[in-house]
Amino acid sequence: MFRFLRDHGIIERNLILMGVLTLITVSIGGLVQIVPLFTIETTIERVEGVRPYTPLELAGRDIYVREGCYVCHSQMVRPFRDEAERYGPYSLAAESMYDHPFQWGSKRTGPDLARLGGKYSDDWHAAHLRSPRAVVPESVMPPYAFLDRPLDIGAIEAKLKAQRTLGTPYTDEMIANARADLEAQASADADASGFASRYARARQGVFDGNPREVTEMDALVAYLQMLGTLVQFRDVTPDQVRQQ
Ligand code: HEC
Repeated sequence: MFRFLRDHGIIERNLILMGVLTLITVSIGGLVQIVPLFTIETTIERVEGVRPYTPLELAGRDIYVREGCYVCHSQMVRPFRDEAERYGPYSLAAESMYDHPFQWGSKRTGPDLARLGGKYSDDWHAAHLRSPRAVVPESVMPPYAFLDRPLDIGAIEAKLKAQRTLGTPYTDEMIANARADLEAQASADADASGFASRYARARQGVFDGNPREVTEMDALVAYLQMLGTLVQFRDVTPDQVRQQ
């Protein structure tokens, strides 16, 4: 009855046999975990509301990356109670599925920005970026007043195309209209019927308070104001969230 114990001794005393059998066992475990992933297109559960960035938001996001805002700000609310109470619902993987590169970050000299959209007015953001200490006296954030310069939109179609090569589903129509959409979003009264149909829940406005030209400040504020606003959390089922 206990013969297998004796036979097991054969394996334990034979280093090569033990090594080969260990390798086989571990490989089976690995295959069971890895092979199913090849059959699915993405491991990210799609969530209603998540869309690619508008051209203006994308330009603002590039400024965010260029200025290194991620050095002091994360963009991911961790799934812990204290974080959710401070910032709002914790981040879903789908919310950063069109982020190339992602901005999750690990350093918080300033607060997390993943749920920033709508927290302050556009005027607050512009004033804060121009001079953080003018609105938050104890702030250690550097001033970015130089962002009140014209936005270079020459490469906007190319930016959308580059994102498309990375998997963001920009259509030919979105790329062809990139420049018009960017200008439409940055002015409060431009006809934007096409823009609204291409980008759901995108807000138009004069983000920097200056209607005469589209500036880098416009783009950055438009981007900050949409952060975390695409998913309507009362519409997301617990099931969708659990699968994240
Ligand atoms: C040296 C670190 C540092 C850098 C770099 C930095 N920030 Fe900040 N940021 C802070 C700190 C600290 C605060 C909190 C005090 C305040 O509100 O100014 C803050 C606050 C903010 C807030 C207000 C957030 C809230 O919920 O109250 C926003 C928005 C913001 N930063 C945006 C930016 C953007 C955009 C950039 C890049 C252009 C940037 N920050 C770069 C440190 C930084």
